[in-house]
Amino acid sequence: MRTLLVVAAGVVALFLTIAQFGTAGWTKPPILAQQHGFRGTGMDQIQTRREAEEIKAANLPPTPADPVEAGTDKAGAVYQNVKVLQDVSVEEFNRLMTSMTEWVSPEQGCTYCHNTENMADDSLYQKKVARRMLQMVQHINTAWKEKHVGEAGVTCYTCHRGQPVPQHVWFDNPGPTYKTGFKPRNNGQNLASPSVGLSSLPYNTLETFLAKKDTDQNLIRVNATTALPESKGKPIQDAEKTYGLMIHMSESLGVNCTYCHNTRAISNWSQSTPQRTLAWHGIRMVRDLNGDYITPLTATFPANRLGPTGDAPKINCATCHNGQSKPMAGAHVVEPYPELAKVTETGEAPKAPDTQPAEPAPAPQ
Ligand code: HEC
Ligand code: HEC
Ligand code: HEC
Ligand code: HEC
Repeated sequence: MRTLLVVAAGVVALFLTIAQFGTAGWTKPPILAQQHGFRGTGMDQIQTRREAEEIKAANLPPTPADPVEAGTDKAGAVYQNVKVLQDVSVEEFNRLMTSMTEWVSPEQGCTYCHNTENMADDSLYQKKVARRMLQMVQHINTAWKEKHVGEAGVTCYTCHRGQPVPQHVWFDNPGPTYKTGFKPRNNGQNLASPSVGLSSLPYNTLETFLAKKDTDQNLIRVNATTALPESKGKPIQDAEKTYGLMIHMSESLGVNCTYCHNTRAISNWSQSTPQRTLAWHGIRMVRDLNGDYITPLTATFPANRLGPTGDAPKINCATCHNGQSKPMAGAHVVEPYPELAKVTETGEAPKAPDTQPAEPAPAPQ
């Protein structure tokens, strides 16, 4: 009997060993570890070499189009229906149209946005959306230059990557709809949702934290600010929502919590990395983009592009970052396209964020 058990255990162990190599999720060495904080704090980023190569290969910036003569005629004077790029020379305008096609609709070509019988016609929704996207890109590269995107900047390619619909968009997630019978009370959680790394955390965290501009500045903060409780504090459910967002941020950037936090004092700003401050502004930028640019386009999008509650496809950290802490590995993608790095519109003045993001609250000790 005993020998039988030993043999059975041996067989099971053998199968488990083989299964470990063949099934997903098993990490094959060599491991790349990068120290990110002070010695002894364990603030390391850990990847396998293969993972690092795959991520790098998936985030190569496209070659910019060849430069053109400066030109004197402005697009606003030559063409009939130019509202954003009026001040750009005709040569640069056409170069940008070619690049936009390569970035957004390489397969469909100009016809994705244009009725080629009349290029000035605005009947396709894609052109109306694209015009707003031009303004959004100029806004990101100017209003958010110092606080987030820096010299690197963004182009249409940062999000679109040769696809009309970026790979990473999200919708309001109302959870399962039960037409009849018992409605189990799930408290908005316990469903493996991709937005929280397939964990059982609340599945609609992006709607809570990233959809609106006028979100309470301290909504994400859950730690007590005094050593002993003085008031009732936030419920554990709020901490779960914060955790869900943090998982989204970590996965989008391909990093772990210690890229931003010293986990012995998560909330403490003086022990956090400078990247945490950039992330703080990133959160406000995403709210700004969704609130001012994407949500107002809801009526412009056709119904088949909208989410289950009729909302527009929105932006999150992964839309630009796509698994990297610096999108396109930090390449200065906007440099060859100066018209996207300034506000060219001459008509209505661009809207700056209503409230300038203040410095993060001082560390609660
Ligand atoms: C992703 C959408 C998109 C694609 C693809 C695109 N365009 Fe455009 N195009 C626009 C938008 C938006 C405007 C208006 C810009 C503005 O208002 O400042 C425009 C305007 C124009 C105009 C000015 C028309 C007028 O008289 O007002 C021309 C010409 C033009 N595009 C040519 C092209 C060509 C050629 C291609 C293909 C190589 C192309 N576009 C691909 C979105 C696009
Ligand atoms: C910060 C990310 C981001 C950037 C940068 C960006 N877009 Fe978009 N774009 C989106 C999102 C999100 C959508 C909504 C996806 C959908 O349509 O389902 C979208 C949708 C579109 C659509 C409609 C596609 C469709 O068929 O529904 C067009 C056209 C478009 N963008 C053009 C552009 C152009 C041109 C630029 C550069 C001037 C640009 N975008 C830059 C995020 C971005
Ligand atoms: C890219 C940077 C970044 C990463 C990665 C990150 N965080 Fe955060 N975290 C922040 C920022 C920024 C805030 C403050 C947000 C605010 O105040 O709006 C924050 C806040 C928090 C808070 C609330 C602190 C308080 O004062 O109440 C907790 C808890 C937290 N993070 C946990 C985590 C965990 C756990 C992980 C890993 C799964 C993680 N974070 C990964 C940037 C990050
Ligand atoms: C519109 C595109 C876009 C969106 C959306 C976006 N970022 Fe960024 N992010 C960038 C760019 C561009 C940089 C600058 C890279 C550089 O300086 O080379 C950057 C840099 C960062 C950095 C600094 C990385 C480093 O190693 O120095 C952090 C942290 C960061 N972003 C966090 C976030 C978080 C968290 C979100 C979502 C709440 C977010 N970002 C959303 C474009 C974006």
